[in-house]
Amino acid sequence: MNRTHNNGELRIENVGQQVELLGWVAKKRNLGALVFIDLRDRYGLTQIIFDESFDERLREVKNEYILDIKGTVVERSSKNPKMPTGDIEIQAQDFEIINTAKLTPIIVADETDALEEKRMEYRYLDLRRPVMQQNIMTRHKITRSIRDYLDNHDFIDIETPYLNRSTPEGARDFLVPSRVHKGEFYALPQSPQLFKQLLMVSGFERYYQIARCFRDEDLRADRQIEFTQVDVEMSFMSTDQIIEIGEGMIQKLMKDVKGIDIKLPLPRLTWHEAMERYGIDKPDTRFGLELVNLNEVVNDVDFAVFKNALDNGGYVKGINVKGEAPNYSRKKIDKLTDLAKTYKAKGLAWLKVGSDKVQGPIAKFFNEEQLSQLLTAMDAHENDLLLFVSDVKYEVVCDALAAIRNHLGKELKLYDPSTFDFLWVVDFPMFEYDDETKRYYAKHHPFTKPKDEDIDKMETDPEHCLADAYDIVLNGYELGGGSQRIYDQSVQERAFKALGFTQESIDSQFGWFVEGLQYGTPPHGGFALGLDRLAMLLCGSDSIRDVIAFPKNTSATCPMCKAPTAVSDAQLEELGIEVTNHE
Ligand code: AMO
Ligand code: AMP
Repeated sequence: MNRTHNNGELRIENVGQQVELLGWVAKKRNLGALVFIDLRDRYGLTQIIFDESFDERLREVKNEYILDIKGTVVERSSKNPKMPTGDIEIQAQDFEIINTAKLTPIIVADETDALEEKRMEYRYLDLRRPVMQQNIMTRHKITRSIRDYLDNHDFIDIETPYLNRSTPEGARDFLVPSRVHKGEFYALPQSPQLFKQLLMVSGFERYYQIARCFRDEDLRADRQIEFTQVDVEMSFMSTDQIIEIGEGMIQKLMKDVKGIDIKLPLPRLTWHEAMERYGIDKPDTRFGLELVNLNEVVNDVDFAVFKNALDNGGYVKGINVKGEAPNYSRKKIDKLTDLAKTYKAKGLAWLKVGSDKVQGPIAKFFNEEQLSQLLTAMDAHENDLLLFVSDVKYEVVCDALAAIRNHLGKELKLYDPSTFDFLWVVDFPMFEYDDETKRYYAKHHPFTKPKDEDIDKMETDPEHCLADAYDIVLNGYELGGGSQRIYDQSVQERAFKALGFTQESIDSQFGWFVEGLQYGTPPHGGFALGLDRLAMLLCGSDSIRDVIAFPKNTSATCPMCKAPTAVSDAQLEELGIEVTNHE
C-alpha cells in the first residue's frame, strides 16, 4: 500500500497523474462493458472506472470491501457538480482487495432507512456514514477551538477523579461498588464542581477540563446519562469578567467551526424578564410571539376562570399569534389546548380578531371597553389569534404558554433554522420551593453565592433572594450555566441553614469540602457548557445522540454492547453484593 492521495482531493488539475487510492466501496455499478466504483474514505468519494474485461476478481467486489486502486486521473465526460471530485475519475490499471465485508445491516450512506436502534446496534457502520463523520469532526473542531482559546487565556487543563463521593448537583448518582471496602460505594461525578472549587483553593486560578459527567436521570433528546461538559473555573474575577471569558470562547468557536461572526457582548436578560416575556428561562429568541401579562387588563372581566385565578393571587397571560386567526380551526386550537394541558394548564382560552368584532367562546365576558383595552395591550389587529392561560401558579401559566410559543414558532416557521441566537440569562433566584417536600432547594447548587445586596434575604425573604448565577442559552436550549461561589464561611453556613441542612448532614455529605474552604479561599466562580448540546446545535441536529460516537438509547442501554448486563456470581461475591431484584 502506498496511498498517494485521499478520496476527497483530486481535481481537474490532477488529470494525467498516476495515483494510488485506498478506501471502502460505497457503490458499484455495471454499465455495459464498464464498471464504476465510488471509493470512500473520511475525506470524500472518488469515482473509479474499470473495463470489465479488466480482471475476474472485480466480480467479487461488493459494497464496503476495502480496495487499493492504482490508476490514472482522467477528465470525466459527464461531470458531477455535486461532488468535489466530480470533474475527474480514475481509470483503473490495477487493484487489490485489502479486505472483504459482510452484507451490512444498514445502508452506509447519508440517506439511510435504518431505524435509530439499528444504527446504534451497528454504530461503527453508522459512523462510517459521511453525515455522521461530519458531526464527529465538527465536535472535534469545537473542542479544539475551545482548548486553543482557554490555553491562550492561561487556563490549565486538570483532570479530576471519576471515583468520588457524591456531589450535590441534584440528580441521582451512579454508584460503583468497592471490592476493597465491601459495602461501600464510589459515586461517579455529576460534575467536577467541588474539585474545581478546591483547585481554586489550591491557587491554580484558571482551570478547565473537558469533563465527562454522569447523572442517573431520564434520557431525552438533549440528555444522556453520561455527557461532556466544558468545565471552567477562575479566581479573582467579577461576574462580568467571567461572562466575558465565556462569550469570547463562544465567539471564537463560532468563527472557527461555522465561519460565523458573533457580535459581543451577547444580550442579557434577567431571569425575571425571561419568564415575563417568554415564560421560560431558556428562551428561543429567534422569534417574537412574546407573552403579555394581562393581570391588570382582565382584572374586572367576568370570566370565572380568570377571576378565580386572579382572586387567588394567580396570573393571566396571553400571546398574540399575528394574522393566524383564519388558519386556526377549532380542531387546531384543540390541539394547542392539549399541549397546554400537558403542562398542567386547565385549558386554553382564545379569541379571534375579526374586521368588526372579536369572536371566541370567551368574547361574551368582555364589554366594549375591556375588549379595546385587551386589543391595545396585546397589539391585536384584524386576523390575529389571541391565546390565554390563567392559573393560580405562575409556573403553570409560563410553562404552558412557553410550550405553545415554541410549538408555534416551529409550526409557523417564524425563524430561520440556520441562525444562532445566543444570550445570557442572569440573576436567577437563589432558591426553589418544592411543594411536595415543603422546603427550599438551591436552584443552582448549594455553593452558589447570593447577590451581595441579597445576602440577608436568605433568611428574611428567600423567595426573592437572587443568586449571582447565569446561564447561557442558544436557540431555546440551556447550553451552560455557572455562578460565583460562596467563599465566605459565614455566608456558606447561612446558605446551608436556609436550605435546611443540619450540621450533621453538612458534615456527612460535604464536610471534607467545607473544611477545604477554610484555608484561604479566593473569590471564585465559573461555568460549564454542555458540549454535546453545543455540538448538536452546531450540526443542525435535534438529538445529542447524533454527536456522540457511542451514545445510550432512550432506555439508557447501549444497543451495540448491550450494557448494562448481569454479571457473574463470582464478580458479585467479590464485591460482597447480592442481587435480590432482577429485571
Ligand atoms: P449544570 O448542571 O447546569 O451545571 O450543567 C451544565 C451544562 O451541562 C449540560 N447538561 C447535560 N447535557 C447532556 N445530558 C445531561 N444529562 C446534562 N445535564 C447537564 C447542560 C448544562 O447547561 N457544576 C455546574 C456548572 C458550574 O456551576 O460551573 C453544573 O454542572 O448544557
Ligand atoms: P369552560 O368554562 O371550562 O368551558 O372553559 C371556557 C374556555 O376557557 C375553554 O376554551 C377552556 O379551554 C378555557 N379555559 C379553561 N381553563 C382555563 C385556564 N386555566 N386558562 C385559560 N383558559 C382556560
